[in-house]
Amino acid sequence: MPAVAVVGAQWGDEGKGKVVDILAEHADIVVRFQGGNNAGHTLVVGEETTIVHLIPSGVLQGKICVIGNGVVVDPAVLVEERDTLRKRGLLEADEQLKISDRAHLILPYHRAIDLARERQRGGSAIGTTGRGIGPTYEDKMARDGIRFADLMDETGFDELLRKQVERKNRYLVEILDGEAVDFDDVREECRRMRAELAPHVVDTSVYLDKSLASGRRVLFEGGQGTMLDVDHGTYPFVTSSNTVSGAISTGGGVAPNRIGTVVGMCKAYTTRVGAGPFPTELLDENGERLQKDGGEFGATTGRPRRCGWFDAVVVRQAARLNGLDGLAITKLDVLTGFEKIKVCTAYELDGERIDSFPAGKAAVERVVPVYEELPGWDEEIDRARALDDLPKNARRYVQALEDLTGVPSFLVSVGARRRETILLRNPFAT
Ligand code: GDP
Ligand code: IMO
Ligand code: MG
Repeated sequence: MPAVAVVGAQWGDEGKGKVVDILAEHADIVVRFQGGNNAGHTLVVGEETTIVHLIPSGVLQGKICVIGNGVVVDPAVLVEERDTLRKRGLLEADEQLKISDRAHLILPYHRAIDLARERQRGGSAIGTTGRGIGPTYEDKMARDGIRFADLMDETGFDELLRKQVERKNRYLVEILDGEAVDFDDVREECRRMRAELAPHVVDTSVYLDKSLASGRRVLFEGGQGTMLDVDHGTYPFVTSSNTVSGAISTGGGVAPNRIGTVVGMCKAYTTRVGAGPFPTELLDENGERLQKDGGEFGATTGRPRRCGWFDAVVVRQAARLNGLDGLAITKLDVLTGFEKIKVCTAYELDGERIDSFPAGKAAVERVVPVYEELPGWDEEIDRARALDDLPKNARRYVQALEDLTGVPSFLVSVGARRRETILLRNPFAT
């Protein structure tokens, strides 16, 4: 049985957590393969809201949770998240949470560097989550990183850590004007984390290979979104990992031909947190209304999310880069009550029509969205469980998104709760 993947098709926060929670019912194992606790995935079941940052969103369905080698892991955040879930009777057995021995650790100096660097960037700051994500991936690529396999090696670890703390402290103090971290404190914290996390550390690539070979169903859960991908997003206003489905292979440790179906997540409009280009951003009362009605505040940092109309150029880009088989469209309910809804179908750049996202900063600043206007609807739609339950104009809107992106919808979400969902096609059944 091939695997299914859920990835963000916009700038993150598309509702991946909600949809992974729903699809996890049909899976045995749920896997994060990139990013770290910059992610904030919200699951609403009944009246209870859970936000996970590192542990895959299949956790409420009692599935095996895997943190792949491509994830950067802040061990203290992971232990806290695990223990909070354990208090609710989840992840009780150690085997239910597996961490790759090749995953890199986010250590206190990474967080300090992230924050100090953003301070130094001043007005051109990226608006990172301040979780140390970028500096940890930099260390990985510079071959200065520390992995779980190193943490588990009691004999060599302290020396490795000492060398890194010394180097990073020089950089922090002399170049970034920041504060040094204390080696003894970090070492003690790491010792504690070793004891806490040792039962979970395995070769997750071997585990996933065996699981897939024996017919277990695996669901891969992306973090962030395609426009935050370090190669394909709005560089440099991106995160430091590849977020597209191709990263499942490197970051999950599974071959590309194991991935069967890729689901692309998008909101029925667009949001982004942090700085950077956003062609369809609304700086008017419509933007304020989307923010208010959509409750658009970051699940990780609580920052207000910038809001704008649906951008089909962005989602088409995501369809191409991820090989999207289907869309999961969320937050359709938030559009209720708009008389007219605009959708960006293409851009104009210097008088010429373009239909892919330009790379250059100057060009991105000059693009002007070309809009098509669609009629809205007034009816509340959160009780819809089939497309036929939707008002005609809402159905027409969904159809327009499918036509403009060239991707059929697998799921339409009409509220934050698990049950507020129209499931059109189960990707595990295709
Ligand atoms: P993720 O990072 O992609 O998992 O998304 P987040 O959890 O950061 O943000 C999505 C937000 O939208 C969360 O607060 C969800 O509870 C909420 N949400 C998801 N789907 C819907 C929906 O269809 N309607 C509404 N109103 N809220 C939704
Ligand atoms: P989920 O998985 C939305 C954004 C940050 C910032 C940029 C770089 O919940 O969709 P970083 O800390 O990664 O170096 O910040 O990326 N960002 C996200 N925006 N959702 C996320 O994750 C994000 N993770 C990072 O706001 O603009
Ligand atoms: Mg989020």
